[in-house]
Amino acid sequence: MSYNHKLKILPFIVIFLLMLECLLVKPTAIARADSPSTTVYEQRIIHSPDGIGKYYMGREIAKVMGYTGAGWLERQSREVEEQPSKIVSLLNLKSNDVVADIGAGTGYLSFRIAPLLTRGKVLAVDVQPEMLEIIELFKKEKNITNVEPVLATLSNPNLPSESIDLALMVDAYHELEYPQEVMQGIVKGLKPGGRVVLVEYRGENPFIMIKRLHKMTQKQVSKEMQAVGLVWRETKNLLPQQHLMVFEKPNSNDSLTR
Ligand SMILES: C[S@@+](CC[C@H](N)C(=O)[O-])C[C@H]1O[C@@H](n2cnc3c(N)ncnc32)[C@H](O)[C@@H]1O
Repeated sequence: MSYNHKLKILPFIVIFLLMLECLLVKPTAIARADSPSTTVYEQRIIHSPDGIGKYYMGREIAKVMGYTGAGWLERQSREVEEQPSKIVSLLNLKSNDVVADIGAGTGYLSFRIAPLLTRGKVLAVDVQPEMLEIIELFKKEKNITNVEPVLATLSNPNLPSESIDLALMVDAYHELEYPQEVMQGIVKGLKPGGRVVLVEYRGENPFIMIKRLHKMTQKQVSKEMQAVGLVWRETKNLLPQQHLMVFEKPNSNDSLTR
């Protein structure tokens, strides 16, 4: 190769090496227009096929379950595997509570909670309009009027300020693409003293046959909730495969470390 030819291709080699460094060596912060907290996430090229390659506080975020999985959410065996009636009884609901079911899917939990809220309601929040259509269909079929579908964006649950007593997330938190922004929106929507309950498959137990990214450890959940100012209250280990973790939004005059 002549010296002149080498000189001509040199800039291309430099550009290629720079691109390679960006892709493989440095995880890049995601700069998405709808993501205000660009620096809390990192994107990695090599990652689990079950995840989106985006990491938050050391955890890879799982892929969202699409609306074509609605049948899976409504499967008969779920009664045994997850004991939804026990989940509902562990929530200690009051009849006038306003509950936000975040990542409601088909409303599997929303429709089990709504009958207990004789003077309250459930906001069934999801990002997939198809899921909200299924919720509308079940509302008519079950003749339940106090479930209100709410269309969220990936980074905003669209809750009215200080209006929620309980935000519930069942099998949903691990797939939020913008967990920090969504949790900030939830904290804003909660009344002071309001609760967040997360039900997630136990990540500590390798014998629970659920994909790793669809399980969470208590340690990880606590770290992520603490990052948005929520205070851990209790963990109920009474479900067959999931833990139910309760957090609270402190009253403004409470100490966060109470
Ligand atoms: C695995 S499904 C669980 C559904 C329901 N909680 C249940 O237990 O049957 C997770 C749901 O979370 C929804 N989701 C994902 N990201 C969301 C977000 N940022 N805000 C609201 N919902 C979201 C998905 O569309 C999906 O319907």
